[in-house]
Amino acid sequence: MTRTLSFNQRGVLAGDFSPPGDKSISHRAVMLGALAEGQSEFTHFLDAEDCLHTLGAFQAMGVQAVYTPDQKRVRIRGAGLQGLQKPARELYLGNSGTSMRLLLGILAGQRFDCTLTGDDSLTSRPMKRVTGPLKQMGAQIKGKDGANFAPLSMHGGKLKGIDFENHLASAQVKSAILLAGLYADGVTRVREPRASRDHTEKMFEAAGADFFKENGWLCVRKTARLNPLSFKIPGDFSAAAFFIAGAAMLPGSKVRINHVGLNPLRTGLLGVLERMGATIRVETETALPEPVGTILVEGKRLSGTRITGAEIPSLIDELPILMTVMALSEGESLISGAEELRVKETDRILSMVTNLNAAGGELKELPDGCMIRGVARFHGAEVQSFGDHRTAMSMALASLAADGEIVIHDTDCIATSFPGFQGAFESLRRGAF
Ligand code: S3P
Repeated sequence: MTRTLSFNQRGVLAGDFSPPGDKSISHRAVMLGALAEGQSEFTHFLDAEDCLHTLGAFQAMGVQAVYTPDQKRVRIRGAGLQGLQKPARELYLGNSGTSMRLLLGILAGQRFDCTLTGDDSLTSRPMKRVTGPLKQMGAQIKGKDGANFAPLSMHGGKLKGIDFENHLASAQVKSAILLAGLYADGVTRVREPRASRDHTEKMFEAAGADFFKENGWLCVRKTARLNPLSFKIPGDFSAAAFFIAGAAMLPGSKVRINHVGLNPLRTGLLGVLERMGATIRVETETALPEPVGTILVEGKRLSGTRITGAEIPSLIDELPILMTVMALSEGESLISGAEELRVKETDRILSMVTNLNAAGGELKELPDGCMIRGVARFHGAEVQSFGDHRTAMSMALASLAADGEIVIHDTDCIATSFPGFQGAFESLRRGAF
């Protein structure tokens, strides 16, 4: 059990916020930089535990990568697609599902054997969704329950392209198979029921991978070399989301989010908040390889809405904070088609329903989401993060509408994605409304 945070002040959010670097893009920057030939340089890198685990894994495979904390800059001398070396020991990836799933794809193409493991949460998350198709491509992978759980031992090498039609919309799965496709004979093709975030595809294009789209399939051919990349990583929309949603639901709030990633496959939260009545203005400045801009939000009492399957991939990581917002909105809300939340860092349907109800919310758990009847205020409560960063941060935002103290136990997990959260929260928080 780790640090406890307590918040005992109702309030609103006001001011400017520049979110830390995007987590998904920071992971991929390290991965593609390491596999490229030549020097890549990324600024505004997210120095959260998850991304540092990815960086550490490539350093352990002989890649020269230097992170300069005061400039949030990573410089990577790429080893080339064939230049990774067998690590001296197993690769420990902490809490990071993205590190593990994407690395599985890359390691499937290597000629050395390697074992991947992580913390209690990561070793209980399903991996068959990735190891299954990688085995079809020719990788030999061993682990509990038919390679469903880490530790996973990878014996990669000779891969062949497959057509993989995923039943889930998952960027981690898609990316793992496409990364393996860089090494596979023939063409590797992936299709998903709905588009998930496309950061890997965008970076493949920027790095000159043999990647193309055809009739709804994402296709990659064995690639000889990747070009190095250099760019400023956009601010993380999913980190900013706590303050966007918090500001939107609290009358009297006014927040401006600067240099934030606006990839349309990530920003579903904005459409939902607008549907609930929120006042939001978005100004896009173009930036490659990802759109970036500014978001202005003003608070008011919102009305309930429904979120169903089609919208889920574009706001998958924002559902915990949306549950907080819905719990405080006028009338009823419904989230359905979100069964993937049950296999995130914790079961986020259970963690958020339990916590918000403890604080006076009226939520009913469903197998694939929840039903919510809005209340005007929360009351004080003692809750758990369940080891999940987004559950912890969503409850911190709930405290702004609580008559009483919200005590959140086990909050060290916040550092997996957003080490500066508490400081940012304190600096945006203003007195009671
Ligand atoms: C991510 C994809 C999503 C998301 C996760 C990051 C990525 O997971 O929830 O936080 O960087 O590819 P799934 O692919 O499991 O939906």
